[in-house]
Amino acid sequence: MSRLPGKVAVVTGAASGIGRAVAVAFAKEGARVVVSDHRDDDRGEETVAAIEAAGGEALYVDADVSREAEVKRLVSTALQAYGKLNVMVNNAGVAVYKPLHELTEEDFDLVVRVNQKGTFFGTKHVIPAMIAAGGGSIINTASIAADHGQHGSFVYGATKGAILSMTRIAAAELAEFNIRVNAVQPGVIKTGMRAVGGADRERVMDRCARETPLGQRLGTPEECAPLYVFLASDESGFITGQKMAVDGGILAESHII
Ligand SMILES: NC(=O)c1ccc[n+]([C@@H]2O[C@H](COP(=O)([O-])OP(=O)(O)OC[C@H]3O[C@@H](n4cnc5c(N)ncnc54)[C@H](O)[C@@H]3O)[C@@H](O)[C@H]2O)c1
Repeated sequence: MSRLPGKVAVVTGAASGIGRAVAVAFAKEGARVVVSDHRDDDRGEETVAAIEAAGGEALYVDADVSREAEVKRLVSTALQAYGKLNVMVNNAGVAVYKPLHELTEEDFDLVVRVNQKGTFFGTKHVIPAMIAAGGGSIINTASIAADHGQHGSFVYGATKGAILSMTRIAAAELAEFNIRVNAVQPGVIKTGMRAVGGADRERVMDRCARETPLGQRLGTPEECAPLYVFLASDESGFITGQKMAVDGGILAESHII
């Protein structure tokens, strides 16, 4: 039996990495999926093709999550295509890893615009559709960087911390509409995420892998996806305002990397 029958989900940042794995996993569980991203290659369409090849239903919508009008258009396109919206995954993200004294105002603004404002827009604009549907599930991709003192992650970690706060506050505010809001904190996951910041970042990643208690290795997007499926499904119907890590135990292990 599928776990997301009849549900309609939007997944941002779904052209690659964790978002792609989540979109594919949702479709395998019976959801119709709006795959969204903002990039100048065909990887979003590739995610749709992978879903359709597995017998699922999906469509691609290009939308820059840092622009409110584009997020509004994304939601209305989903409603036009599938008639309702039950699940929103605010997953698109960018990273800048630099020593604090080298971080520029442009770096700071870019990461805040995409990670923090993108989550704000992607939460605000799904509310009417979820109220109309009798409830819904919003899942925000945070990071263990929100809780770690990770070198170079001053602004990235700060936006992920903000996402945890926004998750808790939105959960409290939206509970009366049966809209649940939870956050996933991936650990160090092997994806194409290109972080501005260079060689030092590689060293930190190697160290994170070595210090991951379960297997001394990086995780995979496919190991993250089942938690998103659970949070999207009715199985988690009494869970809201939570942060949950998929990190091989690294968050419990150390607070400074
Ligand atoms: N990979 C990790 O170790 C890790 C750890 C913790 C959290 N995360 C978070 O997981 C999420 C997914 O990252 P990933 O690792 O799969 O990397 P990824 O680079 O494969 O995926 C991120 C996607 O977001 C898209 N994106 C960037 N800016 C956008 C914008 N303005 N509008 C719309 N889409 C935009 C990118 O095009 C990309 O496809 C991010 O929020 C990231 O911060 C990743």
